[in-house]
Amino acid sequence: MHMMTREEKYRLIEQARPGELAQLRDQVERSPWRQSYHIQAPTGLLNDPNGFSYYQGEYHLFYQWFPLGTEHGMKYWYHTKSSNLAVWEGLGIGIAPGGPYDSHGAYSGSAIEKDGQLYMMYTGNTRDEAWTRHPYQCLASMDADGRIVKLNRPVISSVPPGYTDHFRDPKVWKSGKDYYCVIGAQRTDLTGCAVLYRSEDLLDWTFMGEMKSGLSPFGYMWECPDYFELDESGVLIFSPQGLQADGDLYNNIYQTGYVIGQPLDLSTGEFRHGAFRELDRGFDFYAAQTTQGPDGRRILVAWMGLPDVAYPTDTHGWSGCLTIPRQLTIQGGNKLIQQPVPELAKLRKTQSGATLTLKDEVKHLNGFDGTSYELICEISMFDAEELGLEFRASGHEKTVLKYDTGQKKIILDRTFSGQAMDEINGNIRRCGFNADRLKFHLFVDTSSVEIFINDGEEVFTSRIFPDPASKEIRLFCSGGTAEFRVCKWDI
Ligand code: FRU
Repeated sequence: MHMMTREEKYRLIEQARPGELAQLRDQVERSPWRQSYHIQAPTGLLNDPNGFSYYQGEYHLFYQWFPLGTEHGMKYWYHTKSSNLAVWEGLGIGIAPGGPYDSHGAYSGSAIEKDGQLYMMYTGNTRDEAWTRHPYQCLASMDADGRIVKLNRPVISSVPPGYTDHFRDPKVWKSGKDYYCVIGAQRTDLTGCAVLYRSEDLLDWTFMGEMKSGLSPFGYMWECPDYFELDESGVLIFSPQGLQADGDLYNNIYQTGYVIGQPLDLSTGEFRHGAFRELDRGFDFYAAQTTQGPDGRRILVAWMGLPDVAYPTDTHGWSGCLTIPRQLTIQGGNKLIQQPVPELAKLRKTQSGATLTLKDEVKHLNGFDGTSYELICEISMFDAEELGLEFRASGHEKTVLKYDTGQKKIILDRTFSGQAMDEINGNIRRCGFNADRLKFHLFVDTSSVEIFINDGEEVFTSRIFPDPASKEIRLFCSGGTAEFRVCKWDI
């Protein structure tokens, strides 16, 4: 594949060569792996969700977008909206980079409503002649007609002493009459952290210092922090870089997870919390962002991808998609539960299902097939050693989700899922799980799967790149018997 030069990567969309975009669109159109119900870029690369918000009766969700290729180049905010969290409308460019304070990209950020406008705070990425980064925190606003204007100056124009130029991804919230933001940062000793700012008007920001968490050192950079309160607890979600794999934990090259504790003390920056936990146990999940719905629900969306990982669609002119929206609750004071938002039931079409007991066999039910569907599979184990599902399966391909009752582990294996993936990320994920009944709730799309275990106690999110003809759904059980109840809705 042609690697772009720096000059090519940092081009604006207007600087595309004649025919370049048409050629990309053409490539995208021929890709067998375009998603059917996930948010994906029209061309080029999608990464982080940005500006997730509810404004004037609709959800707005932007994403990091490099239109001209699948490398990380000049980033835009692409704008989508939805009235129901299930069907999204693509609205085109939300924020375009290229100004003096975002000359090399309108990087990640968040949105908040104030005085009838939606304000978007984001990181303006700039590089000088020596290619040194200078991050600015910038502001843009959208009115009720959807017109977006950028403020002509940054609202935070320098990095405070003690931190490197890896200083980005502001997430804004309001508490009392003031606004606060948390920013992902790297200390000059090359450890990651999050810092806090306060403002009365979103324009003038005062540096409050670091969020004083119990995690130090914990990786070399924290990206995309998101702080919110839920059920009287404080939650910080962030994407630390530089954690070492530890058994079944931290197997992806970068992690996204959370800590839960007492609400952040806004006068001291003190945040007392429990242990860090990964949000997802699959392969492709990063830079999660949440918002609050009009009914008070906390809803999360993430990038179904990872930085520095190649994807098979790179040669098809596009890469990346967002996860489905998931609603969050806290279990037992220290664990986040993620459930697909119930609105996704609007996508359901034809329904089929069965109840059956299997004994040492692999069973493909007649017509139980698909490439884009929602599936609920409930299993009571009796005495089997291994049981589970093979899906997107054919003679030569299958993605396997199983429970090993001896090891008490859920295992997702994409070794034979289809087109080989970047070696760097591996092909098997395991997660300890103690249960004698299982509920596997899957959202399968053309090139992805999101699996909610026992109503969101664990989630496995993965891209897979099967042949379009690999459609079978098979149930299996070995070393004994198990009862399966399955129900599928095509999407
Ligand atoms: C995370 C990230 C952010 C940055 C953005 C640039 O994936 O690196 O830290 O703002 O992507 O696209």
